[in-house]
Amino acid sequence: MKSRYHHKIPEHDPTLTHVERGAPMGEMLRRYWQPVCTADELGDLPKRVRIMCEDLVVFRDGAGKTGCLELHCPHRGTSLEWGRVEDDGLRCCYHGWKFATDGQCIDMACETPEFREKMDVWQPGYPTHEFGGLVFIYMGPPAEMPLFPMYDILDTRYRDDVELRGMRLWEDHAIGYVRDCNWLQHYENVIDAYHLLILHAANSGDQFGSVVTTTGWPDLDFEETELGVRYNMRRNLPNGNRLERHAEVVLPNISLIPSIHEQGTDAKYQSRATEVSWCVPVDNEHLYGISIVAWPKDEAGKPVKDWKPGTDTVTDIRPGNLRERPYEDKQRNPDDMEAQESQRPIAIHALENLASSDRGVVLLRRQLRRSLDRIAAGEDPANIIRDDAANHAIETHAWNTVILPDATGEAAE
Ligand code: FES
Ligand SMILES: [Fe+2]
Repeated sequence: MKSRYHHKIPEHDPTLTHVERGAPMGEMLRRYWQPVCTADELGDLPKRVRIMCEDLVVFRDGAGKTGCLELHCPHRGTSLEWGRVEDDGLRCCYHGWKFATDGQCIDMACETPEFREKMDVWQPGYPTHEFGGLVFIYMGPPAEMPLFPMYDILDTRYRDDVELRGMRLWEDHAIGYVRDCNWLQHYENVIDAYHLLILHAANSGDQFGSVVTTTGWPDLDFEETELGVRYNMRRNLPNGNRLERHAEVVLPNISLIPSIHEQGTDAKYQSRATEVSWCVPVDNEHLYGISIVAWPKDEAGKPVKDWKPGTDTVTDIRPGNLRERPYEDKQRNPDDMEAQESQRPIAIHALENLASSDRGVVLLRRQLRRSLDRIAAGEDPANIIRDDAANHAIETHAWNTVILPDATGEAAE
């Protein structure tokens, strides 16, 4: 007879989850530009960041150049977060060594210039790239550095109807990190369409206030796209209209979620996600979320006031996403935070029983493994762009389409 009790906890396979330098996934995520902060977070003070188990300091010098350096001063280790931003670099508070954005030590307050030149100290650091209101760094091998990918949502060379704004998913002060668990648990949630129907509707009541979750059981399936995986949700709405919805994960850690506030009243054709969001590991058990929001402009070309981004993860915090909630409230109305963090700090895949509803998760994990295999074979992983000519309004596949009953034919997908 099978014992229901004394089971042995299997070893966790760290391949998809662990992100430190040297771990396969850590090396893979380092092959892409990763966002470290919003552009407006770099004022006259340096900013300490932790990403993929590395402690760094990011700053913008007086000339406007951004730099990202290892946190601890190469002199005797003081954190550069206490340093002073000057016109041409960041000066350590302890003995005044100053570093340019490329890491070169350009002044030693207690030494002669000749001595400094002879010693020739460089603080390790990473290249930075500013785009769409975010600051990105590249932590991978220099020879493998890709272009920053220009997805259609944010390629303002081809659209003048939006202004790009960098925004953090929730404010740091409100909940700390977005999740205190492994990055993949949060990332997989994007493609986990069935949890919309259970966690966010049947179990906890309508948490989105829209037709996305609460109007009966939809048709659902999953498919691979050129960029990753998406779900296809089709449902008839009580008002007689039809909703087709797709959310997409773009490998390795970008998500595209079309509006969760959809009311389904007006005809709509491929109303795309308005945020390109990155799920960034802090270490193996924490992550942050940060987005470029394509903020609509009015006819006069001014950003629309009071517009609400498509997910409530940018400017508003859904009550269920607050870290501080009464325990009983969390038990009665659990939300994404309770569901994802309690999968354990790092979910043990060997203990899971993946079912047919997990097909999106399975496809995503399979694609991530495929990309790891490609790196092992000396090739580029998924979605690496090196050719300028190919880096134009790359088509994404996440949108809501609302079809009115009198519409003829199928909406294009
Ligand atoms: S520890 Fe930074 S200058 Fe001495
Ligand atoms: Fe969710």
